[in-house]
Amino acid sequence: MNLKEHIRDRIRAEGPLPFEEFMAISLYHPQGFFGGDVLRSDKGGDFLTSPEVSSLFGETLASHVEAERGRIGEPFNVVEVGAGSGSLLESLLAAIDVPVQAIEASPAARSSLEQKLGADRVFANLEELSRPLRGVVLANELLDNLPMAVAQRIGGEWRERWVGLDGDDLTFVDAAARPEVSDWLDRFAGPVEEGGWVEAQMAAGEWLSSVIGILSAGSIVVIDYGDTAEGLAPRRQDGTLRTYRAHHLGPHPLDEPGETDITADVNFTALVAVSEREGAVAKLHRQDDFLSELGLRERLSSLRREELEAARSGDTMEQMRVRSMRTEAETLLHPRGLGDFRVLVVEV
Ligand SMILES: C[S@@+](CC[C@H](N)C(=O)[O-])C[C@H]1O[C@@H](n2cnc3c(N)ncnc32)[C@H](O)[C@@H]1O
Repeated sequence: MNLKEHIRDRIRAEGPLPFEEFMAISLYHPQGFFGGDVLRSDKGGDFLTSPEVSSLFGETLASHVEAERGRIGEPFNVVEVGAGSGSLLESLLAAIDVPVQAIEASPAARSSLEQKLGADRVFANLEELSRPLRGVVLANELLDNLPMAVAQRIGGEWRERWVGLDGDDLTFVDAAARPEVSDWLDRFAGPVEEGGWVEAQMAAGEWLSSVIGILSAGSIVVIDYGDTAEGLAPRRQDGTLRTYRAHHLGPHPLDEPGETDITADVNFTALVAVSEREGAVAKLHRQDDFLSELGLRERLSSLRREELEAARSGDTMEQMRVRSMRTEAETLLHPRGLGDFRVLVVEV
């Protein structure tokens, strides 16, 4: 039975599903997008993230890790949650010597991580980590993949969109907003016109709250696409829920469960509020500014100089190598691409 049939059977037996349950099955069921034996986040996969674009990403984040080690001292660990293929940790370890651990929900990603880091450093969930934890927790493009509810503003009120059936097709069906969903929307949806769509990201907040609870000293660095509630306002007419497959936008999220990534822009206002509620200090940056502050723009200038020198001396191989790194640095900093991602640093 394929995943769509499994979801249909469940709806026939139990009625429509809240969207976050549909998303959890689509992504994390053994037949789900991240549940199977296909590694999704490498160059040949379905999306290209900053650590897959360039080792300069991990190399640059190493400066933040070193600064934190200077601030809080030993014992000190780096934990990456949703570590994917392991590219970020690999490039971090090439730059600095630090104990690392990786947490991954995807079995395919866990085997890639085990090959790179050793099986004793790879875990399936946060509960398996020994605590208390001191150091830096990294999460790149994790929170946009955590299950979320979906709602629409109708007649000045919130209505949820659950997943039901129209014949054999999966379709959005109207449902009263559950109290926890309404509460989240009232606090964090920001300005939303009649008919506007909002993804209610309670699980992202719960994740952040639980990591703040585990970390006794250090910082959490959450990197993702998204914005503040106000910044997301222009995207509310149709909402930001979407799918990716093979590096391109994919079909409607209900069309091919398990076959596509399902994601949405992260609401950073809600995450700042969680941090403050937990007594932590949160600072929100753009990725281009954050990486520049950590030295990537200076690295780019020196790569440009090295490229010129290699061209002048006629060393074509060196020129090509440096050019490729220079292009990667520019991609990480591109103001309308990866540079427009947000970086939330939560200091504990
Ligand atoms: C978009 S991928 C990003 C991978 C990697 N961080 C990168 O930047 O290339 C999101 C990853 O988060 C993992 N993931 C989702 N929920 C998780 C959870 N609760 N704990 C650990 N990993 C999770 C998925 O399996 C997937 O590998």
